[in-house]
Amino acid sequence: MEFKAIIDAKARNAADCAVVGVYEDGDLGAAAGRMDKQLDGLIAKLRSDGDFSGKLGDVMLLPTPAGTAAARVLLIGLGTHSAFGRKQYRKALGSAVQALAKTGTGEAAVYLALEVVADLDVQYRARAVAEVFCSQLYKIPDLKTSAKPKPPRLSSVSVAVADARAAKSAAEGLRIGAAVGSGLALSKDLANLPPNVCTPTYLGTRAQSLAKDFPSIKTKVLDEHGIKALKMGAFLAVTQGSDQPPRLIVCEYRGAKKSAAPICLVGKGITFDSGGISLKDPPAMDEMKFDMSGAAAVLGTMRAVAELELPINLVAIVATCENMPSGGAVKPSDIVTTMSGQTVEILNTDAEGRLILCDAITYSRRFKPAAVVDVATLTGACIVALGNHFSGLMSNDEALAEELQSAGIRADDRAWRMPIGEEYADQLKSNFADIANVGGREGGACTAASFLWKFAKDLQWAHLDVAGTAWLGGSQKGSTGRPVPLLVDFLINRVQTT
Ligand code: BES
Ligand code: MN
Ligand code: ZN
Repeated sequence: MEFKAIIDAKARNAADCAVVGVYEDGDLGAAAGRMDKQLDGLIAKLRSDGDFSGKLGDVMLLPTPAGTAAARVLLIGLGTHSAFGRKQYRKALGSAVQALAKTGTGEAAVYLALEVVADLDVQYRARAVAEVFCSQLYKIPDLKTSAKPKPPRLSSVSVAVADARAAKSAAEGLRIGAAVGSGLALSKDLANLPPNVCTPTYLGTRAQSLAKDFPSIKTKVLDEHGIKALKMGAFLAVTQGSDQPPRLIVCEYRGAKKSAAPICLVGKGITFDSGGISLKDPPAMDEMKFDMSGAAAVLGTMRAVAELELPINLVAIVATCENMPSGGAVKPSDIVTTMSGQTVEILNTDAEGRLILCDAITYSRRFKPAAVVDVATLTGACIVALGNHFSGLMSNDEALAEELQSAGIRADDRAWRMPIGEEYADQLKSNFADIANVGGREGGACTAASFLWKFAKDLQWAHLDVAGTAWLGGSQKGSTGRPVPLLVDFLINRVQTT
């Protein structure tokens, strides 16, 4: 898909389809008024007759006579002027993509970014176009043997903006949006694959191919020997019940000078979480193939950052293995020594994410990072607390938490701050080791994060619990790619403010 910014006044008649927003009340809209004149008042008439009300998300396709507008005009309802904000803007874009994909349109000219959207400048308005188009046109690489439906013909999207200055900002917005789109696609592809394909070995190979695609990325993949040499006792305990070998994947992206401290992103890559000896209940166990979504998001973010050539240093660390029961599996009450030297009593083998992450976080110290952000489908308790709308955000650093939270708001990939601290860590006390890996039902997302906090110590660290946001269940089952948009926004803003 190709995205371009065009100047409104020069844009007439260029595309197969002009996408124009129409409000439910008052003014028709920034572009609709002019289009209405070209069409002899047709749009205003449709609205007043009640044939096209302008309700948010409504769509109507108008074939237009030669010489007017474009070959077709797609009307998109924007709702009322007073309610129109960033959410409504994205929803309108989403309806536009869905409707366009059903037409024969190859080239679309989108006029929606001309609307005023409360606190979204033109760069963000353009970025949202590219993001929404890419993410809505994403297709799961399924293994269905029936004939594939034809892919949509849409190949080029022009975004009309007011003037040359706006076009420059919009072009940058589109570049960012398209990069987020391709990071999202990588993240979703990896997460959607079945766990017999997407194994730790496979993730390692995909990380290596990232390095082939982008010379700015160097990938190192450690096997079990390498992980043993690092004394990652907690990580090794999780993998020991599985026949699939584990991997520790390290991707380094160099966009800034060597001396600049990198940001480390740490991803949980459990390619299947059966629970281990603390076996999970059968319902929805299949969804535990998505338990590597943190790893997928970290690699997707890496891809987006490399595509954008951001002037920043970034390290992605992925700890990946399966969590399986077997005669050799780790047992409740086993005690292991982590890479940090702290001992952990494993009371529940299903609390495996924190075990692989604590060693990966310790490993991140060797990069002397400016900040470490781990991303994990860590707890069912986080879903109970926040549902599927917000990711959980915990941090030992106020400024870092604030940066991540506002990145989530801007990128429409929001996170909600949750507490960590000694009170929660107290729930993890063990009579036999330094710390236990579970702390009871109460505040499960917070005790899990507080476990990691005991390893992050003096690092500037944040944790994103994406258990509720990384995938959808039910008939919509599939990866969302979250929190790639949040992370990319966070990194872009790190560049701008440091
Ligand atoms: N991967 C799961 C968390 C999870 C569960 C994510 C359901 C999404 C949907 C994690 O490894 C896990 O099993 N956590 C346990 C922790 C408990 C044993 C303290 C949980 O949340 O039940
Ligand atoms: Mn588990
Ligand atoms: Zn898990």
